[in-house]
Amino acid sequence: MTDTYTRLVSKGVGRDVAKKLGLPQPALLRRYQPGQPLVNGPLLVVGSSEGADAIAAALLAWDLDVRRHAVPQEKLGGIVLVLDDLEKPGDLEEPVLRAAPSLRDLAPNGRVVTVSRVPDGGTPAAAAARQGVDGLLRSLAKELRAGATGNGILLAAGVSATAPGALGALRFFLSARSAFVDGQFVRVGSSDGKLPDDVDTPLSGKVAVVTGAARGIGAAIARTLHRDGATVVAVDIPAAGDHLAEVANEVRGTALQLDISRDDAGARIIDHAVGRHGRLDIVVHNAGITRDKLLVNMDHSRWSSVIDVNIAAQLRINDALLASEHFRSSPRIVSVASTSGIAGNRGQTNYAASKGGVMGMVRATAPLLARHGGSINAVAPGFIETEMTARIPFATREIARRLNSLQQGGRPQDVAEAIAFLASDAAGGISGEVLRVCGQNMVGA
Ligand code: NAI
Repeated sequence: MTDTYTRLVSKGVGRDVAKKLGLPQPALLRRYQPGQPLVNGPLLVVGSSEGADAIAAALLAWDLDVRRHAVPQEKLGGIVLVLDDLEKPGDLEEPVLRAAPSLRDLAPNGRVVTVSRVPDGGTPAAAAARQGVDGLLRSLAKELRAGATGNGILLAAGVSATAPGALGALRFFLSARSAFVDGQFVRVGSSDGKLPDDVDTPLSGKVAVVTGAARGIGAAIARTLHRDGATVVAVDIPAAGDHLAEVANEVRGTALQLDISRDDAGARIIDHAVGRHGRLDIVVHNAGITRDKLLVNMDHSRWSSVIDVNIAAQLRINDALLASEHFRSSPRIVSVASTSGIAGNRGQTNYAASKGGVMGMVRATAPLLARHGGSINAVAPGFIETEMTARIPFATREIARRLNSLQQGGRPQDVAEAIAFLASDAAGGISGEVLRVCGQNMVGA
């Protein structure tokens, strides 16, 4: 579902005309397919810390072509900039400017990934240097072209650069799974988690529930979790029963017709998953609705229905999951938020309150799941090409989809890939986080 403009300007005369007129030239993004190479060329690892050596060794163990020094004019699949030993702002200069010339050699859809430490704790000078990486990476991501992205990994105190969560995030950011994730950081808070035995089926043996799975992003999540090896329970309202059955059949899973705002929704989900598949490992809260209106014209029904479906239902279901003995073995919850809940959107006070709510809920639930070795995170999509966004009037839609670093809308699969990563044990050390899948919005947050 690449938009027509992007197809037109990606080659031949269209590309030349767009270039002459200074029009946006969105790249055709490389997206994940099982078995494809992780990156499009050698990886340059820059940094002189022990962490940099350990990361280079880990990448070599993945059979990747690793360079510790740039080879002039050699095309690179990616640059890993390891900055985990910064003590003062001046420490940034040497590694950053050493990596800089190699940006010219980045192949299309190339990757830049920084690895640094969370700013909190440490001396003011160390905090300044570490926080500096934030501004540096987000600016650098805006300078990249041809589908290349820049993202960062933040290590909490005591977490090594090769902890499972750090290597899991590194693999995700380097791979085509993160095609529409740009200018973002994930924080690895602990050394929990485990890298998969088979990188193509990281969810093998897991049972995953996906709400709102009859269409759109939810259907893409169901397909992606199935592709990654999970058994999927597809949940949606009875009125969407036919489409739900189609999706469930396609992913060889089961369908559960259920309005998630019912009081007993949590119990119904657990009973179905355990009764039909013997276990429950992953719950993806994707179902969501919009009832847009300027606040000045907002009525009670529009307000309460959005809050109820988008956040209150998730809280009720989580209570049931947390109380259940069937959700105790490294359980994972991933919720779908929205960049509206971060930057705000005119006409969406109810929706943005509900999606801001999802992010607050995820942060506060993380310690409760940690007791069972579990994790909970949110994914905040930006402009995604779905039936919902296809209904936006042409001019507004065209502006909305171009206003990010990749100059195009994302696909449902892009959201699904981020969810599949956070649902995997490789992301076990990441919890209470919000990962944006927005191509790095140019305006707003
Ligand atoms: P959609 O409207 O195409 O699909 C939502 C699905 O949820 C539908 O199948 C619907 O029947 C189901 N659903 C609604 N209420 C339900 C309930 N009470 N119980 C069970 N199922 C229910 O929406 P889309 O675009 O696929 O969005 C999925 C999620 O992504 C939502 O949470 C949405 O807020 C979020 N999102 C979407 C963005 C986009 O650009 N499309 C951007 C940011 C967030």
